[in-house]
Amino acid sequence: MQNPLSILPTRLLPWFAQNARPLPWRQDRRPYHVWLSEIMLQQTRVEAVWNYYLRFLAALPTVKDLAAAKEDKLLKLWEGLGYYNRARNLQKCARVIVNELHGAFPTDYDGWLALPGIGPYTAGAVASICFDCPVAAVDGNVLRVITRFTENAAPIDLQTTKAQIKADLEQVYPAGACGTFTQALMELGACVCTPKSPKCSVCPLGDVCAANTAGSQTDFPVKLPKRAKRNQNRTVFFLTCGDRVALSKRGDKGLLSGLWQLPDTDDFLNEESAVAYLQNVGLEPLELQKIVHANHVFTHIHWDMRCYYMTVREAAGSYTWVPLEEVRRDYALPTAYRQFFEVEDDH
Ligand code: ADE
Ligand code: SF4
Repeated sequence: MQNPLSILPTRLLPWFAQNARPLPWRQDRRPYHVWLSEIMLQQTRVEAVWNYYLRFLAALPTVKDLAAAKEDKLLKLWEGLGYYNRARNLQKCARVIVNELHGAFPTDYDGWLALPGIGPYTAGAVASICFDCPVAAVDGNVLRVITRFTENAAPIDLQTTKAQIKADLEQVYPAGACGTFTQALMELGACVCTPKSPKCSVCPLGDVCAANTAGSQTDFPVKLPKRAKRNQNRTVFFLTCGDRVALSKRGDKGLLSGLWQLPDTDDFLNEESAVAYLQNVGLEPLELQKIVHANHVFTHIHWDMRCYYMTVREAAGSYTWVPLEEVRRDYALPTAYRQFFEVEDDH
């Protein structure tokens, strides 16, 4: 039987030529640029990535610069993007490329896949976009387009589903336009075949799409039931002494490892317990300025945070006391904690 996907290049390539957004990482096809953008885009929206991408390249214009960068600088460039191991893996790869491959990027799918932290998606994206290899990059956008186009009800969380769709697509990859085809599929998913209200009336696949024909667009993609997120209550301290604020560095393992944070502890402490907690770590609280509640959602956990803004008599205890403007400029704080500085800015 003919592969139902074989019509895709004919429809999508001309559409993409007319409709591609002028994104900064589409200005050239240099592997360093495409690779960086694909890593940033994996769990983050285009609008959010845009400025991070430009700033990152301004600071670290070549893979050699990335390989040689200090971790503090790297994490500062990544601050707010989340999933910080992406930045660490990026640097690991850069070091392999510089130290073991003499600064030359792999030029095919298997070469990219062999790098640390590079999976089938990134390898497929870079190998097709930069080297025109006939390999697919199957992300959430592409899965949505293809499962709708074929009314495929296989759960997209399963590796077997992704592998099957990747193989089906690769049968129809257009020689000489592989990179453009990869980007056209992503672009259709991002701009036309959107999650809630796909714009089927302007879609170049409208007349040949199974879900559009059946009116079943929003039944696809099918996902496995979600595991409930764990909830955790935390108490956070915004402790100041003069113009300095208390920070501590997170351990090497686990959530947000190696980043800086505001001091915090499990559970909600009431005011009396909060004061006792601080006294216990060698601090003398002076004034409670305010209490702010906020939350932050990670992949598997949800934090409810109660933040005590307090002044203390001496910059003591085992914390690192840093002038506020330096925290802003030099320290990478995950958004979960950074948000308490923004509250501060408003006043
Ligand atoms: N999402 C993932 N990769 C992308 C790309 N290259 N352009 C736009 N959105 C994307
Ligand atoms: Fe998606 Fe609608 Fe286009 Fe089908 S016709 S691919 S459902 S936007």
